[in-house]
Amino acid sequence: MKILSIAGTRPNFMKLGALIDEIKKHDVEHVLVHTGQHYDKKMSKLFFDDLGLPEPDINLGVGSGSNEEQTKKIMEKIEDVLVREKPDLVIVVGDVNSTMAGALVAKKLGIKVAHVEAGLRSFDLTMPEETNRIETDKVSDFLFTTEESGNKNLINEGVDKEKIFFVGNVMIDTLLKHKEKAEKSDILEKLNLEKGNYCALTLHRPSNVDIKECFENILSILDKVQDKIKIIFPVHPRTRKNIEKFSLDNKIKNMENLMLIDPMRYLDFLFLMSNAKLVLTDSGGIQEETTVLGVPCITLRKNTERPVTVEQGTNLLVSTDRDKVIEKSLEIINSESKINNKIPDLWDGGAAERIMEILLERFKK
Ligand code: UD1
Repeated sequence: MKILSIAGTRPNFMKLGALIDEIKKHDVEHVLVHTGQHYDKKMSKLFFDDLGLPEPDINLGVGSGSNEEQTKKIMEKIEDVLVREKPDLVIVVGDVNSTMAGALVAKKLGIKVAHVEAGLRSFDLTMPEETNRIETDKVSDFLFTTEESGNKNLINEGVDKEKIFFVGNVMIDTLLKHKEKAEKSDILEKLNLEKGNYCALTLHRPSNVDIKECFENILSILDKVQDKIKIIFPVHPRTRKNIEKFSLDNKIKNMENLMLIDPMRYLDFLFLMSNAKLVLTDSGGIQEETTVLGVPCITLRKNTERPVTVEQGTNLLVSTDRDKVIEKSLEIINSESKINNKIPDLWDGGAAERIMEILLERFKK
């Protein structure tokens, strides 16, 4: 059996980490393709190092561009690779442009497609990821879901039940595998932080950082929160670019307790999150990671494609309403009690193993 897996962006690497470790245990030929959607050392190479991922066999080097340009470039370049490599199966993960581009081309060439993290829906088509999710699921032969909502969404869309496999969460496989190693991180000393006495922040959604007024609104929230607690903010390249574009540097400099740093590597960020009093984010994956870590998370979005993190986990979906976010943040900062969270079903470190079991069974000669 020959599997070709496609990765493009930072969260893809965490998901593939667990899968590749599992693939290696079997008599399976594996080709890893990096589309180059994320290319900075801090967004890519350092993650490969921390996760012990093999060097990509092929790097398409597509780089940045509009959603359409990027998708088009990946589609063009991946076609040659698929024609040449002739895999039995293409694995794509998550919801980024690389995911959809890879899945569509594989399908057109008659190659079977497995989508890991299928079925998630924000029901918000203004997010580029929502189109990526829907289109990828439409062409996939194996839809591996992380939570019950994913199964329900796919069935509602008329997907054949036989193609849906509820296997759990490979990103959590990776987290559980690396948690102990992350405890050796010296990032808290380096940043002069005290366990449980800081807030970690990430921000990169176009809806939050690509529009000046929206970004300014979030900064005015942060201004209030940093009055009460130190905020550590590893800045995504998209966000960094917009801070410059909108001339927000001065506003930020005036907030003494808001600490901007470069994107962090995986193990350091895992340790930073684990020990935070509160996480503020607009990321998808971080909602899941904080749920498993038992750390309160405020999501700066109107919707989530991961409802189980709200129903069972530590996630509060608060939107970017200034008063609401400030109120909720202060509530958490001032509270002494430990949060009551449940670990969602099958988020137990065994998702990659379940996926491979299913695939090996299906591809048995
Ligand atoms: C992408 C995904 C998003 C995911 C995120 C994780 C899509 C539509 N979006 O968003 O779902 O949550 O990755 O980080 O696929 N840049 C660099 N260096 C890099 C990568 C990006 O400087 O290594 C800059 C470029 O200016 C680029 C911008 O960041 O234009 C945005 O990168 P892009 O990959 O287009 O989208 P993300 O915002 O990272």
